[in-house]
Amino acid sequence: MEFLELAKQRYSCRKFSDKKVEKELVDKIIEASIVAPTAVNKQPFKIWVMESEEAKENIRQVTKYTFGAETFLVVGYKEDEAWVRKYDNRNFADVDASIVATHIMMEIDDLGLATTWVGHFNAPKLKELCPQMEQYGLIAIFPIGYAAEDATPSPRHSERKGKAEIVEVL
Ligand SMILES: Cc1cc2nc3c(=O)[nH]c(=O)nc-3n(C[C@H](O)[C@H](O)[C@H](O)COP(=O)(O)O)c2cc1C
Repeated sequence: MEFLELAKQRYSCRKFSDKKVEKELVDKIIEASIVAPTAVNKQPFKIWVMESEEAKENIRQVTKYTFGAETFLVVGYKEDEAWVRKYDNRNFADVDASIVATHIMMEIDDLGLATTWVGHFNAPKLKELCPQMEQYGLIAIFPIGYAAEDATPSPRHSERKGKAEIVEVL
C-alpha cells in the first residue's frame, strides 16, 4: 500500500475480534522495528514480547487500555546507549524509541492487524513486575489484534489541525 494511503487509513483501534495474532506476523513487526533509523545508528531500544500468561497479566495490572488483546509489545529505551547532541546535551534515546514505535504501529496496520499506542500505563509498576525493564524508559505498550467487525475510529481521530496552523514557511 502506498504510505500516505496507509497513514490516512490507520486509526487507534480499541476493539479487537477473538482471532489470535499469528507468530509470523509478530516476527514481521519486530523486523520492522529493527530497520528503524536511530541517531548515529545507536539503536538504544528494546522490545519485549509479552507472550506468557504471566507477562500478559502484568500488562493488565498496569493499564486499563488493553482492549481484550492477547498479544502485547512494550517499547523501551536506554539513555546511556544513545547519541547525545553536544550543543545542548540533548539525549536522543526517546526520539529513537519513538521512531521504532512508529515503525511498529505502521507495520501492524500494514499487516492487516490493529493496535493503539498506549502511553497511559503505570511504568514504575511495570518495572517492578518485570525487572528486565528496570534500566529502561518505557514509552509504549502495543496491544495487538484483529479489529472487531464493528470497530471504529474515535471522534478524536478526525480532529486534525489544519495545514495553516501547523506549517510555517520561513
Ligand atoms: C504517545 C501516544 C500515547 C497514547 N496513549 C494512549 C493511551 O494510553 N490510551 C489510548 O486509548 N490511546 C492512546 N493513544 C492514542 C491517541 O489517543 C490517538 O492516536 C489520537 O487520539 C489520534 O487518534 P488516531 O490514532 O485514531 O488517529 C496514544 C497515542 C500516542 C501517539
